[in-house]
Amino acid sequence: ISFTRPYHEKVIDHYTNPRNVGSLDKNLPNVGTGLVGAPACGDVMRLQIQVNDATGIIEDVKFKTFGCGSAIASSSYVTELVRGKTLEEASKINNGIIAKELSLPPVKLHCSMLAEDAIKSAIKDYTSKRGKRGPTLGPDA
Ligand code: FES
Ligand code: FES
Repeated sequence: ISFTRPYHEKVIDHYTNPRNVGSLDKNLPNVGTGLVGAPACGDVMRLQIQVNDATGIIEDVKFKTFGCGSAIASSSYVTELVRGKTLEEASKINNGIIAKELSLPPVKLHCSMLAEDAIKSAIKDYTSKRGKRGPTLGPDA
């Protein structure tokens, strides 16, 4: 017999006390915005990063999620993960890392997938905006 597990305490913690809720000015040249939706349930997540152009480090991050508790917890956790990381480090975050940290059950895996999609899409938006402003200055430039 299998019982429905209650939400893991980490999900409840992020859900009741989400980190980094809000928005950044999407028109700023160094802000990347990711807006993604989950076809399975219609939940929507917006995640924004503010990047230091010279170092490629994510200096600020905000999210807004219209969705289930697991989606809110996943996005909240991702904002904690990426703050202070380089774009390259942040682009390696996948839903497995999120699902594991939050102990998400199989039916909630797509919620963590949404958070992975959101950070990837925010990075892509920043990178394309950055590309239009000329070559990126990396550490070895
Ligand atoms: Fe209802 Fe995600 S399916 S909030
Ligand atoms: Fe769809 Fe959580 S149920 S994002």
